[in-house]
Amino acid sequence: SHSLRLRPLSALAQGDRRTKPNIDWDSLGFGLKDVAGSMYTATWTEEKGWDAGSLQPYGPIPMMPSAQVLNYGQAIFEGMKAQYTVDGRIVIFRPDKNAERFAAGAQRLSMPVVPEAQFVNAVKSVVASNADWVPPQGKGSMYLRPVLMGSGPILGLGPAPSYTFLIYAAAVGSYFKGGQLTPIDLIVEEHFHRAAPGGMGGTKAAGNYSPVLVTQLNAKKNGYSDVVYLDAKSDTYLEEVSSCNIFIVKGKTIKTPPLQGTILPGVTRRSIIELARLRGYTVEEVPVPVTEAMEADEVFTTGTAVVVSSVGSLTYQGNKKQYTQNGQPGNVSLEMYTALTDIQTGKAADPADWVVKV
Ligand code: COI
Repeated sequence: SHSLRLRPLSALAQGDRRTKPNIDWDSLGFGLKDVAGSMYTATWTEEKGWDAGSLQPYGPIPMMPSAQVLNYGQAIFEGMKAQYTVDGRIVIFRPDKNAERFAAGAQRLSMPVVPEAQFVNAVKSVVASNADWVPPQGKGSMYLRPVLMGSGPILGLGPAPSYTFLIYAAAVGSYFKGGQLTPIDLIVEEHFHRAAPGGMGGTKAAGNYSPVLVTQLNAKKNGYSDVVYLDAKSDTYLEEVSSCNIFIVKGKTIKTPPLQGTILPGVTRRSIIELARLRGYTVEEVPVPVTEAMEADEVFTTGTAVVVSSVGSLTYQGNKKQYTQNGQPGNVSLEMYTALTDIQTGKAADPADWVVKV
């Protein structure tokens, strides 16, 4: 049974939920079926700032009905992955970048910043204490979900008086149905927008990820994996997909929308830009008209959850542009997927120290 009180670290040592997980490594999806046994939580108060935080069994957290986050949505999150390298290390990827974005997001939503060292150490502690949930090399990864929220009570609109920083984790496989290399079909959303200039589209705010559901669910009903959003000002340029960034390819040129406040500054996005340049592509962060995407050789999406996903087709104003054939990913999409995951799994050199051992 679930206790509403957080249990201390000693409960873990006593064997509470510490039996080895019984996971079918060959049927991992992207969900909570194989949620890791322990989570990290830390609390911020005005008087004490952040406490050191601790690990507890994964379970409910106490909050008042008047918690700021439940009423006004003061919350941000991150997505990270831990995985096995081919030489048996458990590693995470560019955690400093997630810490930096988490800090920027905290400031955007008037929340206390989690110091980078505390953020990275907390992530490492969750991975280390849940090592049994890291899939064997090649079978998937352990997804980590840091969350920062205004958990303290408040009635009038204002920042919460106290905050919770937590990290939970789960063993996961590919994000989209059909497996990592199966191309996804996307449709351009022509009515709703994801973000507006001056808003918080560039922040990994929880609130950015529910207004997209109405369109996403409708798209799924019609056989698409997800929706591509256009810019709110002119309805002309690609912004991003509900859960990932987008790139187009024409010959040796790769383009992706620029970070001007409405687009999530993806860690995978940044990494793919850098890797593509090293591989001889010209990469431009420029506004990409949807009409240009419809003429591209290839389109792919990037994100921690999706990694690199080849786009099979894009539908816009009733016209469907097919990029891939016979369920095979596009060549450049596959090249970039391989370049990234070879570094993450230790198959290729890691010259910029992106991979961090836990
Ligand atoms: C991630 O890619 O890690 C994300 O946070 C996206 C989320 C919608 C699954």
